[in-house]
Amino acid sequence: MKIRKLTPSDRDSFFELTNTVVEALENKDFLIPMTKEEADATFRDDSEDVVLGAFIDEKLVATLGLFHDIRDYYEVLPNKYLTFKGAEIGEAMVLPDFRRNGLMNQLVEALQTYIQSSRLDYLLATAHPDNVSNHLIQNADFTLHKVFERRGYTRNMYIKELHRA
Ligand SMILES: CC(C)(COP(=O)(O)OP(=O)(O)OC[C@H]1O[C@@H](n2cnc3c(N)ncnc32)[C@H](O)[C@@H]1OP(=O)(O)O)[C@@H](O)C(=O)NCCC(=O)NCCS
Repeated sequence: MKIRKLTPSDRDSFFELTNTVVEALENKDFLIPMTKEEADATFRDDSEDVVLGAFIDEKLVATLGLFHDIRDYYEVLPNKYLTFKGAEIGEAMVLPDFRRNGLMNQLVEALQTYIQSSRLDYLLATAHPDNVSNHLIQNADFTLHKVFERRGYTRNMYIKELHRA
C-alpha cells in the first residue's frame, strides 16, 4: 500500500472511488461528495488543500483530505475560533472491499505532516450522527460541539484544538 497526495491526473480515479462509495452508502446523507470544481481546485499544485490517496496495486482505494476554506462554518463555529486558524478534515472514503483494515487510520496518520506544516490552531470534522466515522473522529481526540445543518445535511460538529486556540 502506498499513500500519496492526489494530483490533477488522479481526478477520474477520485470520482470513480467517490461514485462507488456513494452507491454503497447505507444512508445517502452520510457523505457530501466534492463537486468537480472543488476537486480541480484542490488537486492543483498551488493549492494549500490536500487529498491523500491510498493505492493498492496502483488502484486508488481510499482518500482523506485537509481543506482550509472553512467559511461555510463561520455561522455555527463557537465565536472564539473565528480569530484562530482552522481547517477541515474530510473526504474520508474507503472502497467497501478494503474497509476494516486500518486504511483510514493510516491516512489520518499520514495527514499529520500536512496538518503540522499548515500551522493550524484547530481542526474541524463533521459527521452524520449515525455514521460509524463518529467513532473514528472521537478516537482522534476531537470534541463534539453541536449538531447542525450543512447544505441540508444533519451533521455533528467536532473540533480538535492543536495549540494556541
Ligand atoms: C468510515 C470509513 C472511512 C472507515 O474506513 P476504514 O478504513 O474501514 O476504517 P479503519 O479500518 O481505519 O478503522 C478505523 C476505526 O473505525 C472503526 N470502524 C471502522 N468501520 C467500522 C464499522 N463499520 N463498525 C464499527 N467500527 C468501525 C475501526 O474498528 C477502527 O477503530 P479503532 O481505531 O478503535 O481500531 C469507511 O467505512 C467509509 O468509507 N465509509 C463510507 C464513507 C463515509 O461515510 N465517510 C465518512 C464521512 S464523515
